[in-house]
Amino acid sequence: MKPALTLLHDVSLRELNTFGIDAHAHTFVSVQTVADLEAIAADPQLSLLPRLILGGGSNLLLTKDVAGLVLHMTNTGRVVVGESEQQVIVRSEAGENWHDFVQWTLAQGLPGLENLSLIPGSVGAAPIQNIGAYGSELAEFFHSLTLFDFVTRETRVLSRDDCHFGYRDSIFKHALRDRAAIINVSFALPRQWHPNLRYAELATELAARNVSDPTAQDIADAVIAIRRRKLPDPAQIGNAGSFFKNPVVSAEHHAQLLAKYPQLVSYPQSDGSIKLAAGWMIDQCGWKGRSLGAAGVHERQALVLVNRGGVTGAAVLALAEKISDDVRARFGVSLETEPVIV
Ligand code: EPU
Repeated sequence: MKPALTLLHDVSLRELNTFGIDAHAHTFVSVQTVADLEAIAADPQLSLLPRLILGGGSNLLLTKDVAGLVLHMTNTGRVVVGESEQQVIVRSEAGENWHDFVQWTLAQGLPGLENLSLIPGSVGAAPIQNIGAYGSELAEFFHSLTLFDFVTRETRVLSRDDCHFGYRDSIFKHALRDRAAIINVSFALPRQWHPNLRYAELATELAARNVSDPTAQDIADAVIAIRRRKLPDPAQIGNAGSFFKNPVVSAEHHAQLLAKYPQLVSYPQSDGSIKLAAGWMIDQCGWKGRSLGAAGVHERQALVLVNRGGVTGAAVLALAEKISDDVRARFGVSLETEPVIV
């Protein structure tokens, strides 16, 4: 007989979200196996509770206690599952730490994910917002994932197309939000590896290190150094990475803004639209380093909101709203939040 689920009540989530917000879960369960998910779905009481599926808690803003069931994915394991002449497929269980997984792939001599080093969070959460940094994003290397669907009560495999990946977006922020738990994720790593130095700051960092022909580990080391320099370590200062997405505008809108603000930082997209650096705009509005109560704007990267001590989700949202109002008034651009807000 399989062991019963261990349910906990009134559990503080402070250590389980990188903002360090002290919201409580009414009911909490640590999920290690598919059998645990099946047991939850089959339970007449548990299956009716609203669900919050928690990975590393690094892209989450808790604005209140969670009245229902929090499922903390803690399943671990990573393995090479298949090889061909073109690629190697690796699979990781959802509860593995993302950065440790990236380091593991590099240690196996399997490059590809190095530009995504040191992103906080778990492997299972990575597809939800299609994590990206330094010229690369998860979707490029994604092969497939296995999920448990609480409606059909079955496991199922999704391909890249099924996931509807977009910029910091996927089906898991929409149709499958809280309906499906990601169990494991597989990646296809190409055998023909080329360094990805599209992101100017990364190329500059490697040049400063006198590295002209970088290995994947050289790139990982450079990315880690840039991140440590610019982004707050959640273990020290609570935060959820970029709080806003970089907004995308039409070429016309961009031209108008550029005429007025020649320093505007922007990135042309393949469809002719232009992505604007929200961090630059927020900085221009004078928010960098400022605070509103216990919610602050990071001193070195205006896109990151931080916990100055005992912050609530409501205080973070109040600050975010003021910042959005200022950016809209000055640049005529609406900012969208990046973390999942509960
Ligand atoms: N900038 C400023 N002031 C600031 C912040 C940025 O002037 O306070 C300028 C920078 O000088 C640069 C431009 O804005 O010219 C862009 O800044 P940065 O290179 O730091 O990147 P970002 O657009 O602010 C995005 C991602 C990050 C990712 C970096 C590197 C989003 C929402 N954010 O930030 O992702 O690490 O690029 O690729 O797309 C995350 O999603 O949580 C995250 C940290």
